Formats: sequence, C-alpha cells, structure tokens
Amino acid sequence: MAEYRVCSTTDVAAGSVVGFELHLAEDQKLAVAIIQSEKGNWFATHNQCTHGRVKLSDGWLEEETIECSRHGAVFDLASGDVMSLPATQKLTTYPVRVDGDNVYITV
Ligand code: FES
Repeated sequence: MAEYRVCSTTDVAAGSVVGFELHLAEDQKLAVAIIQSEKGNWFATHNQCTHGRVKLSDGWLEEETIECSRHGAVFDLASGDVMSLPATQKLTTYPVRVDGDNVYITV
C-alpha cells in the first residue's frame, strides 16, 4: 500500500464529486472519485460503477451516498456497500487524508 496525492482541497467543493486519473506507475493508472460531502467529510472511491462501465463522478450525491447516473444504483461512500439495486457488488473505497490543501489516498 502506498499513499498518493490526488488533488487540492479547492478542486472538490463541499457537496461535490470530481473524477481524477491517478498514475500509480508507468503503465498503471487508477480512476478515482474524490468526494467532499456537504458536512465536509472526504471520501475516495474507484470511479466506476460496479454494475457497468459508468463513471460515478457523473452521478449524484445524497448525504454520504452516491447514485450512479445510468441505472440508479446507490453506494455508501464510507463502506462502499450497495444501498440500492441494480448493483450487487460492493464499491472499492480508499482511505483519504487531508493535509493542509492536499488530498491524499492510500491504494
Ligand atoms: S451502470 Fe451504474 S447502476 Fe447500472
């Protein structure tokens, strides 16, 4: 496991989700969604719905869950648990650390 800087805190306003592409190694990229809830809590998830090849960063936040824009599956941002069908597979989540203006995740 390693920690990577993904973005600045100013890149993700409260109540929004933004997608980033993280370069882990020369040929290894990871699509991540960084979320700051309305309450100011930070989350990071894999930026693809487990039901299809759809970016979750195109979805909608509702408190600390995210709804996929394609068929409406809902995932808990902290645990990745499926809260609403049609997805059945848990979403991968990553630990987030905010240090000053920088947002880091552990992969
Ligand atoms: S692709 Fe996300 S719910 Fe179907």
